[in-house]
Amino acid sequence: MNRTVYVNGDYLPEAEAKVSVFDRGFLMADGVYEVTSVLDGKLIDFDGHAKRLHRSLSELDMAAPCTDEELLAMHRELVVLNGIDQGMIYLQVTRGNPGDRSFVFPDASVKPTIVAFTQNIPNLADAPAAKTGFKVISIPDIRWGRRDIKTVQLLYPSMGKMMAKKAGVDDSWFVEDGAVTEGTSNNAYIVKGNKIITRQLTSDILHGITRASVLRFAAEAQFEVEERPFTIAEAQAADEAFSTAASIFVMPVVEIDGQAVGTGKPGPVATRLREIYLDEMRKAAL
Ligand code: PDD
Repeated sequence: MNRTVYVNGDYLPEAEAKVSVFDRGFLMADGVYEVTSVLDGKLIDFDGHAKRLHRSLSELDMAAPCTDEELLAMHRELVVLNGIDQGMIYLQVTRGNPGDRSFVFPDASVKPTIVAFTQNIPNLADAPAAKTGFKVISIPDIRWGRRDIKTVQLLYPSMGKMMAKKAGVDDSWFVEDGAVTEGTSNNAYIVKGNKIITRQLTSDILHGITRASVLRFAAEAQFEVEERPFTIAEAQAADEAFSTAASIFVMPVVEIDGQAVGTGKPGPVATRLREIYLDEMRKAAL
């Protein structure tokens, strides 16, 4: 691949883009990130992602590397420079390079590192997986207690994805104290009758930007939304299940721990919410 990527103010060929070995993102996973999807060459839910980035930064006492206007211009420039019609923009901000390794945060004179790159995914909206749905397994949630901050500490979610792969399925849903928290890189939902049930927003889960939009559209479409924890047994007995994230939009979940959910095929509610989400977000794309 020969992408043009963004590093600290410069647009460079990917082979020339460099970050220091002393960068705290590399040494300490001391960084936060956002993934924004691109449809028709436009950014989906950019404002939501920019807002969450600022929240993640401020929860970690990290300075914002640029203004929202600069962030938007940079995202748009990457889309243009890389000719992206459908895909994603990955953005990462770290606490920068203090010139040595230390557990102490560097002082304010050390500038944050900001990196962004595109991922070209021509069939993002029309993903084959959305037609068959995800199969998931449940695994214990042993992540740290501030999952509401979108940090780059993704080792356990990555291990969870590998556990799913080994089990011959698509993803893992994390379980803590008997209830589902979220998927490895998505929020988790079940559907019972007219009701959509998903865990409430606390530090137990990431406050998904897709989640916020999907729940708004669900309420507008006269679904009842209940924000509370649910168990794997309840999910297996539900009419439908699904996951949401910028990378998958609304993804039906058709099997949990080897047991079919509902008919074992993508259900009408998840399918409809996916359609509404894509329609509405395309209209509002920047
Ligand atoms: N992941 N929960 C977790 C743990 C996530 O990592 C993500 C997103 C979500 C959904 O958030 P949003 O709707 O804002 O994308 C929930 C991104 C896509 C990733 O790591 O690639």
